[in-house]
Amino acid sequence: MYPLRRRPALALRRGGRWSSLLVAGLLLLVLSLVWFHLSCSAERDEPSGPCSAQPPGASEQLSWAPHRLAVLVPYRQRFEELLAFVPHLHGFLGRQKVRHRILILNQVDRLRFNRASLINAGFKESGNDTDYVVMHDVDLLPLNQDLDYGYPASGPYHVASPELHPLYHYKTYVGGILLLTKRHYEMCNGMSNRFWGWGREDDEFYRRIKGAGLQLHRPSGISTGYKTFRHLHDPAWRKRDQKRSAAQKQEQFKVDQAGGLNNVKYSIQSRTDVTIAGAPCTVLNIMLECDESQTPWCVLS
Ligand code: BGC
Repeated sequence: MYPLRRRPALALRRGGRWSSLLVAGLLLLVLSLVWFHLSCSAERDEPSGPCSAQPPGASEQLSWAPHRLAVLVPYRQRFEELLAFVPHLHGFLGRQKVRHRILILNQVDRLRFNRASLINAGFKESGNDTDYVVMHDVDLLPLNQDLDYGYPASGPYHVASPELHPLYHYKTYVGGILLLTKRHYEMCNGMSNRFWGWGREDDEFYRRIKGAGLQLHRPSGISTGYKTFRHLHDPAWRKRDQKRSAAQKQEQFKVDQAGGLNNVKYSIQSRTDVTIAGAPCTVLNIMLECDESQTPWCVLS
């Protein structure tokens, strides 16, 4: 026990200690708020830090372009490619100030892969808040920031052009990454639903673009050549489904005059918003339907 007369001095000292603690605490709070604010601003350019667990679209700014892009990614069992793709493209588009929403079109039925039907379904599900689309392979990452993902008002814009794609160099190639306004996609009646298994649907789409009287554009002035993209695909590990039944062989070079966006048949099993390393995307589980009397090659026999 202290003598009674010493108590006021002690109380005074204790009070002083508390107020220094309070000041230090406040200082810490202010400093962490400043740090958080600074890292959030930096993250608008390179999203990966403490602000990245945001709801879809939250990081985009209203001052960005008035248009909004739906990134349509046909997908099946490519998990490690997805883990790389979503954060990469979200950051790439953010640096270009392109407002966007990434839709992973996950084919969950037991039919053969149908890239074109997934894109048609993704187009229909992409919502009224997007006015243009890019069909985007999950294994192709743009590396050159000068590749323009802006609104392609004057016609389809083939980002993965044959002069830049590391592997595919024929003149009519429009696969990999292709941007279109929604109006132009509708003018083509989307893509044909008759292509099950790997390949040819993009070659047929080239003919639809021409048939609709649209002008195809490609990047110019890109100096990185075949190093413009990172191609993640390993064909030895992921074998492509290149089987062709006799009937399919006869069909594969034809243009489908009647079908496309108007007759794609699917149902959405689920819609899940996820973030991958802080980058938002929506996974649509899509169940495609096949009329086997029309395209018996949708199942492997
Ligand atoms: C196929 C296309 C494919 C391209 C590049 C062509 O032979 O028909 O569908 O995109 O090769 O792989």
